[in-house]
Amino acid sequence: MRVLVTGGAGYIGSHVVKLLGERNYEVATYDNLSTGNRWAVLYGDFFEGDLADTNRLESVIKIFKPSVVMHFAASIIVKESINDPLKYYYNNTYNTIKLLRTMIQNGIKKFIFSSTAAVYGIPDEIPIKEDSPMKPINPYGTSKMMIELILKDLASSNRDFGYVSLRYFNVAGADSEGRIGQAYKESTHLITRALKTALGEFRKLQIYGTDYNTPDGTCIRDYIHVEDLADAHLLSLKYLTEGGKSNIFNCGYGRGFSVKEIISVAKKVTKTDFPTEEALRREGDPPILIADSSKIKRVLQWRPRFDNIELIIESAWRWEMKLKEILG
Ligand code: UFG
Repeated sequence: MRVLVTGGAGYIGSHVVKLLGERNYEVATYDNLSTGNRWAVLYGDFFEGDLADTNRLESVIKIFKPSVVMHFAASIIVKESINDPLKYYYNNTYNTIKLLRTMIQNGIKKFIFSSTAAVYGIPDEIPIKEDSPMKPINPYGTSKMMIELILKDLASSNRDFGYVSLRYFNVAGADSEGRIGQAYKESTHLITRALKTALGEFRKLQIYGTDYNTPDGTCIRDYIHVEDLADAHLLSLKYLTEGGKSNIFNCGYGRGFSVKEIISVAKKVTKTDFPTEEALRREGDPPILIADSSKIKRVLQWRPRFDNIELIIESAWRWEMKLKEILG
């Protein structure tokens, strides 16, 4: 089976490319290298190209002849989406519509979509089930929700078309063999920033908001190891190609950690008492996001292997130290 991976040079995409390669799938990456890295693509063909460039994308499809597309290429920073919404509607919504159109015109009928817990906004119930209403509170979440709505219509209008939408919670950690990991220099993610602060790359770590209605006043998130998330993609691929109906799955472990809890684990793992500072809330942050992950476990038989926050942060730490060596 031939799988085309958009954004395969990025953090999550590169882990999925690796797993596809290890499991002997024919894989090709399509990536404009705006945030990804060529070295992160460990298996298969690599085509440099932008999603906005439909001619290039179509020529790659004609050369590689995929039967499935996994779509990771997207902009992912919540705060940036608030300041520059058009960037998000253009990159995440418009470019995905163009990708879907090009796929359909070229007879590709299976699609695996990187969605996000951000589609839920501030959920009514925790843990969050897949049938909770989508009511995003930032343009990033809205840009992904729009594609989910479009996918639903597409699947109803076209019996042959099938998709799986994976709603990622907070992805962290790195390749167990230390070859790839989060390498985007401007990463705003909590675990990455905490570890970079421990390495002295930032002077201090800011805690965005200590007055949330949570036990310690800081936001709670469900952190999932990137290798377990990659596994969810392979299971989705198997499910779709074996005739599974279009579906949506949460990808999280079903347990949450506050910002302060993450900081304390990060200090323990790095053996560094790095400085932190209480700061104002960050716009667009929901107080608590925890997945109900029973559906993916039941339907796809997903069995996470790294459901342990210390393991996740240790693996991210090994990677951050290596990245520092690589980048100097
Ligand atoms: N945080 C800090 N200080 C920092 C960075 C983050 O206090 O320096 C806090 C944030 O305010 C938030 C929590 O740590 O409360 C997690 O923030 P991240 O930036 O690591 O992740 P987000 O929860 O904002 O977003 C991530 C992805 C989204 C996805 C979401 C779903 O970036 O794509 O998880 O849970 F939608």
